[in-house]
Amino acid sequence: MTNLSPEKTTNKKLIAWVNEMTELCKPSDVYWCDGSQEEYDRLCGELVESGTFIALNPEKRPNSFLSRSDPRDVARVEDRTFICSATEEEAGPTNNWREPNEMQAELNGLFDGCMQGRTMYVAPFSMGPLGSDIAHIGVQITDSAYAVVSMRIMTRMGQGALDVLADDEFVPCMHSVGAPLAEGEKDVIWPCNADNKYIVHFPEDRSIWSYGSGYGGNALLGKKCFALRIASAMAKDEGWLAEHMLILGLTSPTGEKTYITGAFPSACGKTNLAMVIPPQGMEGWKASTVGDDIAWIKPGDDGRFYAINPENGFFGVAPGTSYKSNPAAMDTITKNCIFTNVAMTDDGDVWWEEMSDEAPAHLIDWQGNDWTPDCGRPAAHPNARFTAPLEQCPSLDEKWDDPKGVPVSAMIFGGRLSNGFPLVYQSENWEDGVYMAATMGSEATAAAENQAAIRRDPMAMLPFCGYNMGKYWQHWLDMGNTSDKLPKIFRVNWFRKDEAGKFMWPGFGQNMRVLKWVVDSINGRVETEAGALGGVPKYEDMYWDGLNFSTADFDKLMDVQPETLHREAAELKEYFVRFKDNLPASFETARKKQEQ
Ligand code: GTP
Ligand code: SPV
Ligand code: MN
Repeated sequence: MTNLSPEKTTNKKLIAWVNEMTELCKPSDVYWCDGSQEEYDRLCGELVESGTFIALNPEKRPNSFLSRSDPRDVARVEDRTFICSATEEEAGPTNNWREPNEMQAELNGLFDGCMQGRTMYVAPFSMGPLGSDIAHIGVQITDSAYAVVSMRIMTRMGQGALDVLADDEFVPCMHSVGAPLAEGEKDVIWPCNADNKYIVHFPEDRSIWSYGSGYGGNALLGKKCFALRIASAMAKDEGWLAEHMLILGLTSPTGEKTYITGAFPSACGKTNLAMVIPPQGMEGWKASTVGDDIAWIKPGDDGRFYAINPENGFFGVAPGTSYKSNPAAMDTITKNCIFTNVAMTDDGDVWWEEMSDEAPAHLIDWQGNDWTPDCGRPAAHPNARFTAPLEQCPSLDEKWDDPKGVPVSAMIFGGRLSNGFPLVYQSENWEDGVYMAATMGSEATAAAENQAAIRRDPMAMLPFCGYNMGKYWQHWLDMGNTSDKLPKIFRVNWFRKDEAGKFMWPGFGQNMRVLKWVVDSINGRVETEAGALGGVPKYEDMYWDGLNFSTADFDKLMDVQPETLHREAAELKEYFVRFKDNLPASFETARKKQEQ
């Protein structure tokens, strides 16, 4: 049974693909999504009925739902993520490669009959404003209604995308939770395949196959799979950039508007910075949100780089989010949201660690068990997330939906580095900036104080680059030759700690002071000083009204020891070897300069 009708689409390739997948997956019926509110409400109602959703208290959290995943399906699975390019070299040393034909055969086996007893949903979506030159269309086939309603929040999903698509090309995104139902078998609350997950990308075919997981980036295929892994490969061929970046507008007290992008690894504060509120003392400034996770950046006719947020919603980490740390996020998630793996209060609202100073006396935790503050378990899973419409964000930028995108004046790159790296420094030029971004390190977890292992996370794209990382670096360098109005590149580090293990920089809203200096620097209003790693601010060029931060504190925060440079140069020497001939020649030159 299918509800396809000619008014919906006449795209032959799409119809043929859906037919082929129907034959393979053997669902009990096929449903083409129109993306309407009526459809969303109906599917949410069905999810409540099946137990996957719990409707939250409509007075506290109108039209919002809580979902508890299988504890074996709570995050992206990097070791089960594959890039199946024609050759292993094309995938490069930072990706898991599998031979495409072999992998396709394996997937055909897995998907054979995998939707038995379930509905197969066809969800067309646009990454980016409908009809934007920078946007692209994908179609997700899935047997998860949770994925469908999430995709409606996270993308422009529905008939509008099919209308834009017309007879053109789309990225096929095949998804199954990998849990067929036998005749009469009762479904579980969170169907998934606990021990057999595959997140597979065919960058040359521009297609995605995801099996076994219903969670986040594994299942909402527009996000990491399409908008980063596949899009990065498209971007290389077509001369643009698909990046793990927030997009932020900054308006000065005189009304000067500057847009910047910022790349930070997962769980390193993109959502916080995308919704930053100027601190006390900087009331004349305004920051506005375009995106918090992904940027697609293309050179415009005027030679500048223009960025769009391909997403339509936030899939943000819940724990740690509070009116203290991120009031704009708290105001974004008051209604029309899906919460996954957070705790539930006795009055049917949500709670997570640090949401309030004091934890409620009793909760139901993310696994559905009774929870009290002294029970020794976290109430919410550390990767619990909210799914919220972009439009509900109070700091949303006026151009968030502009098909042209916003002009990018600066790009900042920041890892989580408790040792050695200063608050901010600026690259001399594009080439130097690409090197700075490519060699970015970040601590894998915040748990191990100071001695945490540093992993290289080039441009915060380590898990998301859909092809050879060395070629990706070269592509960044090549992009530098396409324009004479390139964004300026900066490195930042909010996470430096002192000997006592305390953050040396207050961070959060106070990061606006760094952003103001960035804006002043790119507009030539301040001169940078030569630092060991790049151009750095003079103490007196930073704006300090409202914050007590001494020259001595600043010097300590900005200090770079020769050991840090030597260790970097030595580590990078070893690291670069892996990229063989794909390492841009200028990288080794830059490293040697650093060594001296
Ligand atoms: P993904 O959605 O996973 O890509 O991550 P994200 O980059 O959006 O991360 P998120 O905003 O969830 O990161 C939150 C973490 O960053 C929390 O641990 C915050 O405490 C921390 N954080 C954010 N901003 C700052 C800051 O300025 N200083 C410090 N010290 N921590 C910060
Ligand atoms: C990330 O891990 O960087 C995320 C969350 O933004 S997910 O969409 O699950 O990849
Ligand atoms: Mn992310």
